Amino acid sequence: MPSTLAKERTLDDQYHTFLHDVIHGLRQAQKTLPCKYFYDARGSRLFEEICLLDEYYLTRTEYSILRSSGKSIAEALSTYTEIIEPGAGSCQKVQLLLKQLPTLPRYIPLEISVDALEHAITTLKERFPALRVHPVAGDFTAQACLDEVSTLCQSGRRLVFFPGSTIGNFNRTEALGVLRSLKALAGPSGALLLGADLIKDRQRLLAAYDDKRGVTAEFNKNILRRINHDLNANFDVDDGFKHRAIFNEGLSRIEMQLVACREQTVNVAGEKMDFHRGEVIHTENSHKYSEQSIAELASAADMEIHRAWKDPQGDFGVFLLGQK
Ligand code: AVJ
Repeated sequence: MPSTLAKERTLDDQYHTFLHDVIHGLRQAQKTLPCKYFYDARGSRLFEEICLLDEYYLTRTEYSILRSSGKSIAEALSTYTEIIEPGAGSCQKVQLLLKQLPTLPRYIPLEISVDALEHAITTLKERFPALRVHPVAGDFTAQACLDEVSTLCQSGRRLVFFPGSTIGNFNRTEALGVLRSLKALAGPSGALLLGADLIKDRQRLLAAYDDKRGVTAEFNKNILRRINHDLNANFDVDDGFKHRAIFNEGLSRIEMQLVACREQTVNVAGEKMDFHRGEVIHTENSHKYSEQSIAELASAADMEIHRAWKDPQGDFGVFLLGQK
C-alpha cells in the first residue's frame, strides 16, 4: 500500500481546490484552466491513446532513446542508489533504466493516482524482486509531498527521473521553480534525468497536438466533461466548444485551446460564466526546447548539462543535469 501524506487531503479539500481553480481560471481576462485536471480516469486513458498515435512522436521517441542509449545512460547513473520519479504513473519508462541497473537498491515513485501506483508496484515487484520500491501517493507540485520523499531518503545518492516532457507544461518561471525543487529533492550529491521535447518543424508539432482521429481534441474537451461531472456544470461539450492547437513561436510552445463556437453562458456550481463567440479557454502549454534552452534553464537553477542523449532525428532529448 502506498504511504499517504501525514496530512492527507480529504476528498472535500480536493473538490474545493478544483472548484476554486476552475472559477478563478474562468474569471481571468484570458480564460484558462490548469492542465493537471485533464487526468481523471477517462483523461488518463485518452492520454495513453495519444501516446500511441502516429502523429504523437514524443513517447515512442523517448522510449527509443532510453532503449538504444540504455547502456550509456546506465553507466552515467551507476553511482546513484535511488531513483525518485515524480508523477511516475504506470512506472513503464523507468523499467528501461531498472533493467540496466540490476543492483540499484531503491525506487521511489510519486503518483497522485493511487490506483495507477498500486497496479504498477505489483508489476515492479514481480519483474525486479531485489529492488526495494517505496511508493508515495501525492502531487509532486505540492512541497509537502516532496518533503515527505526527502525524509524517506536521507542517506542515498538520489537520481530524480522526470521524463515525458512534463517540464513542457510549465512556463519559464514555473519550470525554474520545478527544477529548483527537484534539485533540492535530489540533494547536494544528486542529479536530475530530464526528458524534453525539442523544437522542430511546425507542421509536425501542430499535427502532434491535433491528430487526424481527434483523440487530442477529445482529451482537451474531456476537461469540460470532467468539470460538468465533478463540479455540476453545464458546458455544451459536443457543440459549444472546439479544440484548437497553435504554435506560439515567440514562446516556443504549443498552446491548446477550447474555442467557444457561439455566444453562451455556462453555469459552474451556481456561478454564471459568459463566453463570446470565438472566445478562447487556454488549457495547456507544451514548451519545446533546444539543448541550448535546456542549458540556460538548468543554469538558472544552478545546474548544468552533464550528458545529453537524443534520437538520430533530434526530435527529443534526455538530459542528465547535475551540480555546476
Ligand atoms: C504529458 C505534458 C508531455 O504536452 O505533450 C499530449 C500532454 N497534451 N497531447 C504534452 C499532451 C496534448 C503532454 N505531456
